[in-house]
Amino acid sequence: MYIAPSMLSADFNNLAQSIRMVEEAGADYLHIDIMDGDFVPNISFGPMLYQGLRAQSKLVFDVHMMVTNPERYVDQVVKAGADVVTVHVEATPHIHRALQLIKAAGAKAGVVINPGTSVAAIEAVLGQVDQVLVMTVNPGFGGQAFIPATLDKVRQLADLRQKQGYSYLIEVDGGVNDKTAADCLAAGADILVAGSYVFGHSDPVQAIQTLKDLA
Ligand code: DX5
Ligand code: ZN
Repeated sequence: MYIAPSMLSADFNNLAQSIRMVEEAGADYLHIDIMDGDFVPNISFGPMLYQGLRAQSKLVFDVHMMVTNPERYVDQVVKAGADVVTVHVEATPHIHRALQLIKAAGAKAGVVINPGTSVAAIEAVLGQVDQVLVMTVNPGFGGQAFIPATLDKVRQLADLRQKQGYSYLIEVDGGVNDKTAADCLAAGADILVAGSYVFGHSDPVQAIQTLKDLA
């Protein structure tokens, strides 16, 4: 199991320090949310923000693109230091090409589904991806309540992986905390993204430890 604190909830006045803190606390990934104000009703930041942090951290930079037609920015996102890039199936008519472009740029590729999207929508690309991200809230904002019905898709993806011999990791994102994480793990999730639970905690180091102890 891997813990992926979401930078969206970090202290932007002390970004480098916040990231060092979660790295020292035993986080594995840094989840980085790029929002364009079009695919989702919010704007966050672009790849320039993490480019400067890349050299200071050994965390896996896991870039979640909430961007319409993400293929336009794949090269830029990878060059800035992404190790894994995930793109929404709802954001492009050419998901297969978007995933190919990510790999050609030298990163691992992942596909994302919103709470309203079924696993069937991504079945054709499951053999092509390193990661599948199941949104457990509607994307756009941190601090929202976990949607339990999404867990059925985590179970379906874990089943398909076993039956078809796929090797993707299953990631969950949104509303993950000490109460919802156990259900995610039981359903088959490998990577837990947590934003407000970690960075909004009085002791973020303890919050990460609490999640790790669930494994
Ligand atoms: C939401 C983002 C998440 C967000 C999660 O659109 O994709 O990564 O940071 O935040 P929490 O963990 O607070 O729900
Ligand atoms: Zn995210």
